Amino acid sequence: MKFNITDFVKPWVPGLEEYIPGKTLKGYIKLASNENNYGPTLRVVRAIEDNRLLTHIYPHMYELIQKKVSGYCSLTHEYAIVGNGSDEILDMILKVFKGPALGFYPSFAGYKLFTKILGENYLEINLNKDFSFPVDEFIKKSKDANILFLCNPNNPTGTVMFEDDIIKILNEGKITIVDETYYEFYGKTVIPLISEYNNLIVLRTFSKAFALAGLRLGYAISNPEIIRLLHKVKPPFNVSSMAQMAGVGALDDEYATKMIISKILKDREKMYREISRKFRVLKPNANFLFVDVSPMKSSEFCEKLFKEKIIVRNIGKLEGFEGEYVRISVGTEEENRELLRVLASF
Ligand SMILES: Cc1ncc(COP(=O)(O)O)c(C=O)c1O
Repeated sequence: MKFNITDFVKPWVPGLEEYIPGKTLKGYIKLASNENNYGPTLRVVRAIEDNRLLTHIYPHMYELIQKKVSGYCSLTHEYAIVGNGSDEILDMILKVFKGPALGFYPSFAGYKLFTKILGENYLEINLNKDFSFPVDEFIKKSKDANILFLCNPNNPTGTVMFEDDIIKILNEGKITIVDETYYEFYGKTVIPLISEYNNLIVLRTFSKAFALAGLRLGYAISNPEIIRLLHKVKPPFNVSSMAQMAGVGALDDEYATKMIISKILKDREKMYREISRKFRVLKPNANFLFVDVSPMKSSEFCEKLFKEKIIVRNIGKLEGFEGEYVRISVGTEEENRELLRVLASF
């Protein structure tokens, strides 16, 4: 048989860069993926336990979780779609809408990855030197794009966009995704703008504040027309029963999550103060710190921590920017104390 695989492969696939997630190792403190290391609340654990014997049944609570997330955003179910992580929603958005897409750099790697997977062009505008958002430059470039990605607060910098600037971008009339993955830590949302802007999609997740990264649950809020289009490309049964039930449990336990968030925010400020004594740290707005460790090399910084059984995210050098960067998630009180203890010897 004469078979040449390259004759069958979509031409852009071999050149794609695989996503490399933060390492998880037993016995190590992981501060690399902006997870909530306090873990799920009691109600979530109970919801999972109560449903553990129903694994033979296809997921059937989609409408319930859809109602729950839209209710959490003070809207009705027609405004929400739920996915297997917000990653999957990004994929659905890119399946529905035509490219090219435009985002800032640095920002969440998923925007470029999912755009490229679908064979579309991805354009980028560098953030300002202080990692604020060059809005006018972005607007100029948006003429060449159909889909615009805004991450607020931005991963990995933690910097934020003003609502007025988001409105200026929305007024360009392109499909505009405002990724509010870290909303619960930041507290500001553009969801109220959905009634006015039918080109706005707000992306949210249960992976961070709600501590459900392992179960994969994300959602988008937008006008019912966009939500209907996204449902057309949604794989059937995309959200597992456990994820659905855990999500419902998490939203029923909002108060417990709020208590944990306030603990994380208090610790974040302490870490910001302490780490700033030695390194340049950007003012945080989510559950992580963006640190310029230069003149140290970021790889050396991460290796030194790794020897002490702490894993942080090595961002490295950023094209067009000075410095050597790492991203450090805020963990539990005990983990943060250990990180600060080790950093004191740097
Ligand atoms: C800004 C941003 N968007 C989206 C995601 C994907 O989240 P999920 O776990 O819901 O797929 C992440 C994950 O780190 C993120 O930081």
